[in-house]
Amino acid sequence: MPQDQWPITSNRIKIMKASDLRRALLLLLLLCGVLMVYFFSQQTSRLTIPHLSGIESSIDSAALKTDVRWSWLCTKNHCEKIPLATGTPMQSLSTCNMLCGDSPQIWPIPSGPSKIGTEALAFRVNQLQLETTVKESALAYLEQSFAAFNDNVVSYMKKRDSALTQIRSDIDSFLVKISVVQANIIRLRMNTDESYNLTVNLYGKNLLASINAYTVFGARHGLETLSQLIWWDELDTSGTLRIVTNAIVHDKPLLPYRGIMLDTSRNFISIPAIKKVINGMAANKLNVFHWHVSDSQSFPLEIPSVPQMHLYGAYQTDMVYTAQEVAELVEYSRLKGVRIVIEIDIPAHAGNGWTWGPQEGLGELAVCVNAQPWFMYCGEPPCGQLNPENQQVYEVLERIYRDIIKMTGEDELFHIGGDEVNLDCWEQHLLKNLTSTNYTDLHNLWGEFTLKILHKLERANGGRKPPYTIAWSSNLNMGASDWSETRELISDGYKVILSHVNAWYLDCGFGRWRERGEAACDPYRPWQTVYLHQPWAYDPLYKSHTVGAEACLWSEQLDELSLDARLWPRAAAFAERVWSDPKINPDTYGIAEDVYTRLSVHRDRMMSRDLGVEALWPRWCTQNPGMCL
Ligand SMILES: *[C@@H]1O[C@H](CO)[C@@H](O)[C@H](O)[C@H]1NC(C)=O
Ligand SMILES: *[C@@H]1O[C@H](CO)[C@@H](O)[C@H](O)[C@H]1NC(C)=O
Ligand SMILES: *[C@@H]1O[C@H](CO)[C@@H](O)[C@H](O)[C@H]1NC(C)=O
Repeated sequence: MPQDQWPITSNRIKIMKASDLRRALLLLLLLCGVLMVYFFSQQTSRLTIPHLSGIESSIDSAALKTDVRWSWLCTKNHCEKIPLATGTPMQSLSTCNMLCGDSPQIWPIPSGPSKIGTEALAFRVNQLQLETTVKESALAYLEQSFAAFNDNVVSYMKKRDSALTQIRSDIDSFLVKISVVQANIIRLRMNTDESYNLTVNLYGKNLLASINAYTVFGARHGLETLSQLIWWDELDTSGTLRIVTNAIVHDKPLLPYRGIMLDTSRNFISIPAIKKVINGMAANKLNVFHWHVSDSQSFPLEIPSVPQMHLYGAYQTDMVYTAQEVAELVEYSRLKGVRIVIEIDIPAHAGNGWTWGPQEGLGELAVCVNAQPWFMYCGEPPCGQLNPENQQVYEVLERIYRDIIKMTGEDELFHIGGDEVNLDCWEQHLLKNLTSTNYTDLHNLWGEFTLKILHKLERANGGRKPPYTIAWSSNLNMGASDWSETRELISDGYKVILSHVNAWYLDCGFGRWRERGEAACDPYRPWQTVYLHQPWAYDPLYKSHTVGAEACLWSEQLDELSLDARLWPRAAAFAERVWSDPKINPDTYGIAEDVYTRLSVHRDRMMSRDLGVEALWPRWCTQNPGMCL
């Protein structure tokens, strides 16, 4: 296998791995009194700092059951929850979190020098205005990015109508000024500069946010960061949007390829659910959606020139991705800074969807399809592997590749699959064919198959090899079965996209779904495990050869019912690792308090954007920052 044919590979190995009670009560009663006064007066005035003097007589024991008000005050870099009392400034948890502590509430944390002010002001969403000198397609991109930014800000508003029309704003205008150096770049590539600089400044009563970037993709990240410097403050009478008055952010990603892999073959996941994944990716500055669209179970993708694939391969007629839907998803994703890489896994992991050959006179395209006992011929049921001896297989693949490149417009990255080939399957098939070539080592047959399909890929791509052809690591390109194998691939000259099973497989830990065979990859990888995995820390060679990383979500035990919660917040933890790669203390190998707080704030942010993010911990910990570590 010539190395230049196969410059990138990723890892996929499934086999491994109160002390005065009276005083307190009195305080509580007093508070209730304040609340009652507050409720009676709130039509006309806004509550700021409560003063308790002179209202003791209004205490009513029934009021004990009403809402107790809390305030969060910044002490020693974290927000302390305290009951409201005489002279206590009133501050919401969200405002305290934003303005307290050393690290900005941005996720992923910016990689460059950044400073966020400790003061905030209120504004109205209809004050947001975009200004840019960028023209044409880049302008269209920025306008849509700005609309998405606007939607995100609106999503924070817990009282939408009142906040839109409410009188309260500390400023006269809120201008977002964007400049882009290379406005001709509107497609994301491996060498696309995604860096940006963001500043927020107050000039009199005019707020100016400036985003400077080389490309629209950097500018979009800048808008995402700006949206994270905005929050909802629920303490005002009607609630209000707030933003910090000052900020400087310098930011750029560690890796050019920051992916999520989603399997939609084992269980079908609808386009709207995939769009939510893309929204989550955009919120975390991830940029490649690696779509493991087919496998031996089902083939849900419409290939216009080979319609048999989905007609025979889809679970149900409504569990199909049409070519048009895919093209629309590609554009939707592009506007969110995400590119789509579709993988048709072959030669293994291909069965259902490939069974129509005999009926159509093309012979057997796949062998061992649904063979039993399955454990003899594949890693999980049902089995199926392409027939390397049938030349029609290569012709069909060329048509599939051509259609995929057309649908996605992606001619730089192409994923050919290539994992977990079962040589016993091929062997028992070859034994039936007395005229077939004798292979002393079936790895040679696998090698030949791979060279042939790479040639077909080149033809499908207009005679040009995709600069980054990606394949899973396998027995073909490496030996050992542990992520230390990455070293082996690197020394063989490959560039790598890391997707280490023991840290970045998010499907693991849900037990067995079948009687035979091991639970594929227990235990569950908690977000801390995902976060702390930093393969390039151990070996300088990793740094120079790692072009990307991705978190993988296989769907044997997953469909869209649990999709969001299985991905988030863990994929967010992954995103910070691959964007800014924060230092890990080698002595404690622990995660700092601010990361917990920041991720918790980010969870709320993502939830307001309609993403179902799993709980990190008891809500008490959210309300008492720093007290649960
Ligand atoms: C962002 O700021 C850095 C440091 O000052 C500078 O080197 C870089 O060119 C700036 N980027 C843009 C797009 O202006
Ligand atoms: C048997 O092997 C020969 C030689 O490799 C090949 O041409 C032929 O198509 C094979 N037959 C089947 C049924 O796969
Ligand atoms: C394959 O090997 C077997 C046994 O060694 C031999 O009988 C047969 O003729 C060989 N077939 C081919 C096509 O070389």
